[in-house]
Amino acid sequence: MIRNMAHPPTYIILVLSPLAWCLLGSSFAAASRPECSFPAVFNFGDSNSDTGGLSAVFGQAPSPHGETFFRTPSGRYCDGRLIVDFIAEKLGLPFLSAYLDAVGSNFSHGANFATAGSTIRPQNTTLRQSGFSPISLDVQFNEFYEFKRRSQVARRRGGVFEKLLPKEDVFSRALYTFDIGQNDLTAGYFANMSTDVVRAYIPDVLDQFKNIIKYIHGEGGRYFWIHNTGPVGCLPYVMERVPILASQVDDAGCASPFNEVAQDFNRGLKQAVAQLRKELHAAAITYVDVYAIKYALISQPKKFGIKQPLKTCCGHGGKYNYNIHLGCGSKITHHGKEVIIGKSCDDPSVHVNWDGVHYTEGANRKVFDHIVGGSLSDPPIPLTMACHEQLPQSS
Ligand SMILES: *[C@@H]1O[C@H](CO)[C@@H](O)[C@H](O)[C@H]1NC(C)=O
Ligand SMILES: *[C@@H]1O[C@H](CO)[C@@H](O)[C@H](O)[C@H]1NC(C)=O
Ligand SMILES: *[C@@H]1O[C@H](CO)[C@@H](O)[C@H](O)[C@H]1NC(C)=O
Repeated sequence: MIRNMAHPPTYIILVLSPLAWCLLGSSFAAASRPECSFPAVFNFGDSNSDTGGLSAVFGQAPSPHGETFFRTPSGRYCDGRLIVDFIAEKLGLPFLSAYLDAVGSNFSHGANFATAGSTIRPQNTTLRQSGFSPISLDVQFNEFYEFKRRSQVARRRGGVFEKLLPKEDVFSRALYTFDIGQNDLTAGYFANMSTDVVRAYIPDVLDQFKNIIKYIHGEGGRYFWIHNTGPVGCLPYVMERVPILASQVDDAGCASPFNEVAQDFNRGLKQAVAQLRKELHAAAITYVDVYAIKYALISQPKKFGIKQPLKTCCGHGGKYNYNIHLGCGSKITHHGKEVIIGKSCDDPSVHVNWDGVHYTEGANRKVFDHIVGGSLSDPPIPLTMACHEQLPQSS
């Protein structure tokens, strides 16, 4: 090709490469590449993506959780669907069952290893002591490892097992999604650590995260979709529990120090992802900036049709309609009658925050709508193209 070209002036070649070729190449490639057909999603995370894990083991998240979409408690800490549910819908898959949910689950299109309260690093406290789940990311990986092997053994028994468990090749074609890290930060604050102390252990948290991605890659996983962590300084359960100075509250009413640490975590995560991309053969790894859109919902509420950016929809009392002792769905006995104290609001869709910790379905939908097209991702590719390896950057 090049030999057949009429001698182009040297300066054009210099000007065109490598940037122009890279741009031409990537737009051409994006247009010509087919959409991915992910047969399954395997999700790892905390309550932001728990579709029933913690509920299956430690008790159902009570009503009014689930009221908007499922019309009944559904194992989610939300009035309705989570971002991971919208991801499944978009990919044409049924909602993911929690791996720990042994009753009535169909895992042929994936499994969800997330549980509410999960951290990346194992915590040295029980759920009762600290509220953090014993099912940290390393445990979630162990579950996945067992699931991958045992599902194949069970499938060989035929019958219903073949219909409820994934085929072997699904594991290398699936999308692996992650939304975890928030609780590694709050675990420090709730143990009275300063932001400096929390910041100092972030590299260890990220190292452990990277290891898990490598292990999954070692098990044949190739396509990774990784959410960063949200603005935890805007969540009532943090603002109510950890005192800060008035001067540390930003224009949106959020606690800046905790958001700054979250952004440090995210910068580190983005670097970790870039490094993984170099190290892992034939992997497509997408970093998704959910922080940006979550913070936009809270700091520019009008733009998104939101009336209550900080105050919870479901809770009781205080500045944020949040009380740690009387959470969403909590009941008290009054004159011998059970009364629901943690009640839900009339219109959850105008709230960002559901229960002091989690987002409403309406907010989750808005976050999903802003991440699905790829404009908040690195590389900026849509969800449905997340199986395509990033093109080499010009260096
Ligand atoms: C838990 O304890 C072990 C052993 O002392 C320590 O190495 C680890 O960092 C602790 N984990 C956390 C999250 O503090
Ligand atoms: C399980 O889900 C798969 C994929 O959605 C579906 O084809 C299959 O029929 C389901 N199996 C049962 C037993 O419901
Ligand atoms: C943190 O400090 C508060 C106030 O001094 C104290 O009540 C609480 O027990 C401490 N929490 C931990 C986990 O040390």
